[in-house]
Amino acid sequence: MKKKILWALYDLYLKNFLPQKLLIYGFARRPFKDEEIRAYLKTILQKGGVELKNVEKFLAAFHYVQGDFSELDAYTKLAKILGRADGVWRVCSNKLFYLAVPPSAYLQIIKNLHESGLTTPCSPEEGWTRVILEKPFGTDLNTAKQLDMQLGSLFKEEQIYRVDHYLAKETVRNIVAFRFSNVFLEPAWNNKFIEKIEIKLLEPTGVSERGDFYDKVGALRDVGQNHLLQLLALFIMDEPIRFTPEAIKKERADALSSLKIMTSDEVKKHTVRGQYQGYRKEKGVSQKSNMETYFKIKVLSDKHDFRGVPLYIESGKCMKQDLIEVVVTFKPSTSPFINVNHDPQNVLHYQLRPEEKITMCFLAKKPGFEYMVKEHELGFDYHQAYDHSLFVDDYEALLYDIIKGDQTLFVSTQEIITQWKLIEPIVEIWKKGAPKLNYYKPLLYEGAKIK
Ligand code: BG6
Repeated sequence: MKKKILWALYDLYLKNFLPQKLLIYGFARRPFKDEEIRAYLKTILQKGGVELKNVEKFLAAFHYVQGDFSELDAYTKLAKILGRADGVWRVCSNKLFYLAVPPSAYLQIIKNLHESGLTTPCSPEEGWTRVILEKPFGTDLNTAKQLDMQLGSLFKEEQIYRVDHYLAKETVRNIVAFRFSNVFLEPAWNNKFIEKIEIKLLEPTGVSERGDFYDKVGALRDVGQNHLLQLLALFIMDEPIRFTPEAIKKERADALSSLKIMTSDEVKKHTVRGQYQGYRKEKGVSQKSNMETYFKIKVLSDKHDFRGVPLYIESGKCMKQDLIEVVVTFKPSTSPFINVNHDPQNVLHYQLRPEEKITMCFLAKKPGFEYMVKEHELGFDYHQAYDHSLFVDDYEALLYDIIKGDQTLFVSTQEIITQWKLIEPIVEIWKKGAPKLNYYKPLLYEGAKIK
């Protein structure tokens, strides 16, 4: 709420994209009066270092209801309070339930939301209700299936919004547009031309205040099972037949299910895991922890077009670089002009951080009598090309789409299950101690190489 949701709501409010009639209720254990929650939110906004406009009017939408997640009575109380607004407005209002809670509380909360009638729409035409959940969806295949069954038994799929905020990043939303609107890419987007694809999420920050959570999941389940696999899916998926949420999600899911599940030997050979020195002293982390804070994995796809192309996913905390990037390396050219002693290659850098840009390394003749080619760069930088005011923050895009009822940027249950099927065998082998955990120096490590 403090880092993302409050800011997204405030931006949407300033852009006039929030419904005219809107109430936002905080629902949690701690006691707060409405004025106190507003004052608290105001302090957060004031500390944000931006010029605030119409803040009091924005904050007037916020209210608070105290309640324990585990008690059905608390939900009944909430239902009564929300019902009052319907009476005043003389409508059956639409309702979004945003579960900004530890995932371990999901099952209990969705059950109570359902039992209290809070999530029952007034009719198919009026008063829709939607439930928003954040990753991680389960901690393994079993718990993910359990959560899915529970959601499926209580809600319709169109009521469920599973957030992977990477899908809402401007540059990530561009992947489909970039890949399928540039006709010159299509013929080269396969194993005849592509040598490898690398997906990297490297962060110089450590686990900071999240040691307790992080030590239960580790890097692979924190960002690999979700963000990185989603990026990979977008890079290898086929063109959707239509630009509809269903068609796009189907292609993402098909791409994910084409990834080969690794045998234990492959896990030992094609994965690397590491832990930054000092991790075990972080708050909330076990002193004997063997949890990985870094990983690199080589996966292969069964997809006809990508057969044999190594696909790497890599991420780490306390890394030397601050970088989120997808690198597509094309095979060396066989052109007769190439007479240098290394093989120059076309390389596409698709960067999300630190800059949001796309660069293509291409080959051109060096000036002079001889025919010799050299690498050069063609580039596009989002922030140089477009005015800052046009950009939409990831959570802003998500909330806007939830209100509109567009599920394109949300993860389907099929995608989640497939992701776990791939990740779980790796986690299992790692738990048995193979391959060995490497210890790396914080802020100096640049990552591992695997064949
Ligand atoms: C979160 C992970 O989902 O994504 C964090 O839990 C990670 O560990 C973060 O730092 C990265 O997201 P972003 O938007 O900052 O790139």
